[in-house]
Amino acid sequence: MKASAPGKIILFGEHAVVYNRPALAVPVAQVHVEVEVLDSDSAGVHIHAPIVDLHAELNTLPADHAIGSVILKVFSTLGISSPPPLHINISSTIPVAAGLGSGAAVSVALIRALAVHLAHPLTNDQVNEMVFEIEKLHHGTPSGIDNTVITYNKPVFFIKGLPIETFKVGRPFTIVIGDTGISALTKESVGDVRALWQKEPDHFEGIFNEIGKIVLSARQSIENGNPDLLGPLMDQNHVLLQKLTVSSPELDGLVQAARHAGALGAKLSGGGRGGNMIALAEQASAESVARALLAAGARRTIITQVG
Ligand code: MEV
Repeated sequence: MKASAPGKIILFGEHAVVYNRPALAVPVAQVHVEVEVLDSDSAGVHIHAPIVDLHAELNTLPADHAIGSVILKVFSTLGISSPPPLHINISSTIPVAAGLGSGAAVSVALIRALAVHLAHPLTNDQVNEMVFEIEKLHHGTPSGIDNTVITYNKPVFFIKGLPIETFKVGRPFTIVIGDTGISALTKESVGDVRALWQKEPDHFEGIFNEIGKIVLSARQSIENGNPDLLGPLMDQNHVLLQKLTVSSPELDGLVQAARHAGALGAKLSGGGRGGNMIALAEQASAESVARALLAAGARRTIITQVG
């Protein structure tokens, strides 16, 4: 059995979404995880995940291993106490720790492939719930936006704890993603923002409110078919993320380079500190924005169409 899951980007609202403000995220089909589960001739559960250089039998991994623990969770959820001999291949084109949701995508594809192979297919809601539990183990206090957009594989307007809401894209638009190449743990930036918020709650609540308003305007512009209006909103969102201390000189450099190359707006995307930034570009100038990002030090770029 094979299953796959896409990458994701947050368009607007990261970090504030942890504090119950809305955020917009979309899947990125250009990168994905694929998991294949096969019956095995030799006893045990054999895992092959070249992306993280993992070639091991499940029993030899520590109980909290990022991939091993997902497999154990599937077995326990499905009530399987002695799993059959299995061979699991995990391949991925999603860069690790880059803000594109590689961990959540591995979990989603792995859970789906295993559940179907073991004749216990799960609903999207069940998969999403399981992946959120796993994200909480690794990421501290996640909002749940990453697992939601990746599980349902559609644009989401997300508010923590509320049922998934998708949004229409009135007119497609082009986003250029630039990767700083710097791995950054979302858990750390989310933890740092929490510490700042605890010290000065009123100040940070004010920033989260401003981000929330930007998200609502952005949703309206996207639904009304006015994506050009997103550029200035991205710029404003980036300034607010700087105030949350989650940007970095490298992210700021790529954001500037994109604007100089003609992007209509740009911001960091995801946890920040490293990982990715995104820029809104006219379709005709997307390639030159991508080239400018590479010239300014981006490790890689992805051009993706939303809608
Ligand atoms: C990470 O993709 C988005 C953050 O808002 C964290 C979260 O929502 O869990 C930074």
